[in-house]
This record gives sequence, structure tokens and C-alpha cells, in this order.
Amino acid sequence: MQATARAQPNIALIKYWGKRDSARNLPAVGSISITLSDLHTEMCVEVDESMHDDVLIVNGCEDRHMLPRVKQCLDTIMGAPRPAVRVVSHCNFPVAAGLASSAAAFAALVVAADSALGQSRDRAELAGLAGRASGSAARSLYGGFVELANRDDDIVVNRLLESDEWPLRIVVAITTPDPKRLSSTDAMEISRKTSPFYNRWIERQSVDLDEARSAIANRDFAKLGSVAEHNCLKMHSVMWGSRPPVIYWNSATLACMQTVRDLQSEGAAVFFTIDAGPQLKAICLPEEETRVRAALADTTGVSDIMVSGLGSRARLVHRQGDSDGVHVANST
Ligand code: DP6
Repeated sequence: MQATARAQPNIALIKYWGKRDSARNLPAVGSISITLSDLHTEMCVEVDESMHDDVLIVNGCEDRHMLPRVKQCLDTIMGAPRPAVRVVSHCNFPVAAGLASSAAAFAALVVAADSALGQSRDRAELAGLAGRASGSAARSLYGGFVELANRDDDIVVNRLLESDEWPLRIVVAITTPDPKRLSSTDAMEISRKTSPFYNRWIERQSVDLDEARSAIANRDFAKLGSVAEHNCLKMHSVMWGSRPPVIYWNSATLACMQTVRDLQSEGAAVFFTIDAGPQLKAICLPEEETRVRAALADTTGVSDIMVSGLGSRARLVHRQGDSDGVHVANST
């Protein structure tokens, strides 16, 4: 059996940083994100009884670095013992560079693997499985504006708004396509163990979540921008205060932040956010996109620009059994 799924990365406006249970990968805080439309990962999962071990191919090259996490995710979905699996992934944006490639990858993986096995878990269950592999991946199981709630024993994800209910635009300023040196997983643990700001970060998260939820419900762009920038800079302050310090920015990241602040002082409806990498994401109203894009493209150190709207949830696009292939692109 073979199945292919497509998923888009999501960008957190209220960030997940820190784990309350590393073994089960349960986040220490809730988070709110937007799922993108134009960046995507397509993943084909093929159960192959003739192979002895799993294989992962990313954009045409064998990837041994990510393979252990993929294996672990497949073990959770398929149980043990299980047949070997070939996973072939294509991603149209830089991988492991702070653009949520692992969120898109694990969201696509759980959907494709579930289908390749002939199973049909519901979306909430798939979100739980994706979240165990990578916390942010649970959010890519849903489109539009998404909240991951911090419940006692599980990962609970809800959609707050559909993508077309508030069609914001995202301009991504790429300052380097190189993979980051420190994974989010490792960096979060360094922050938890050493940052003097970590506990306060956890304590204050519910205040930011409430404010962002209300801004989204009221389509209040200024309020959303204010709390999102505040939450992003707080998360990076936790990182900067860690020992050793966790610093994902480069000089171009700061230059991009200044560009957004200049646009804001000229009255443009735009705000920024930055994840565990040096890329800046500018979120704006549709009428500001051309101006924001031009200003960021003109900023020193920006090597590329990607633009996206808000997109839909991870979904199955193709399934093939023993006899024939079934296209299912619009069926979920
Ligand atoms: C800064 O989901 O990559 O992007 O659960 O360890 O795989 P793991 O972490 P991951 O962390 C994402 C961190 C972030 C903020 C966010 O997306 O909420």
C-alpha cells in the first residue's frame, strides 16, 4: 500500500516553547498559529515487505539525520513489529531553517502512514500522533487559525477561524537557507533548565493566549500584532537568557525587524514574528503585501522572499492499493 499526503507549515503567533513531559512530548504552554497555503511538503509513504529497513528520501537525497524521528513516529502509528517503510518527501521551502518544515513533515507523515496502512483515524487522533513527533506538527492538521490547548494529559487542537474568514498575508524574509545548528527540541530543554525567565514565561502564557484569541475573534489586527510581537520577543528573551545562550538571529534578522518597525511607523498594518531560526515572518493585511514585500526584499542580508496566504489542513492527495490508484485530493 502507498499513500501521499500534503501538509503546510504553520507559524505560531503565540509560541510553544518548553515541554512539561519530554517523553510524551507534551508542551508546557498552549499556542496559537496560522497554517500557510503556499509553502508545503508532500510525503509518500509506501509499505514495502521486501525491504529490511526504513528509508527516508528528502528532496531526492537520503536523509539519515531525520530518520530516527521518522522511525519513532511510524512505530507509534503502526505498532511493533511492523514492515519496513519507504518515505519520500518533497518540500518547496528550506528545511530545518526555522520555517516549520518539521511541522509540515510530521503532519503529512501521520496522514499518509495512517492511510497507507488502511486505517482511518480521526483528525484529533492524527493531531495527537503528529504532536508526539513534533509539538508544532499537531497544529498543521488544521487550517486557518489554530489553537493547541495545554490540557492535563493530551494534545488538544481546535480551529479558531477558517483561512478565508480572515485572509491575512505572510511575507517570509529568508536571511539564510542553511539548517540551524541547534534543534528546537534541544534548545527548549536548555531554556527549561537554565533560563531565569522560563518560569515567568510559562506563568504569563495564558494572558497572551486570551488576548490573541479575542483579537482573532474580533479581527483586531493591531491587537493581534501587539500581543504576537510581545510573545515572540519574550520567547527569544527566554532563549537569550539561557546558558549557553540560544541565539537564532543574525544581523539580517534584526535589519528585517527594523524594516517592519519603520513600516509600522509609516502606518502600515504589519507585524513580525520569528521562530527557532533567523528568518523573519511579516504578517500583514492583503493591501499591504506589495509594500511589505518590497521593503523586506530591499533589506540588507535578505537572500530570498516567500509570500503566502493562509491555507488548509494536512490532507491525503493520493492512495494506491494492490490494484489501482485512487486520487483523493478533494475528499478530506
Ligand atoms: C519556536 O515543534 O519544532 O517554532 O516538539 O521539540 O519538535 P518539538 O519542537 P517544535 O518547536 C516549535 C517551536 C517554535 C514555536 C512554535 O512553533 O510554537
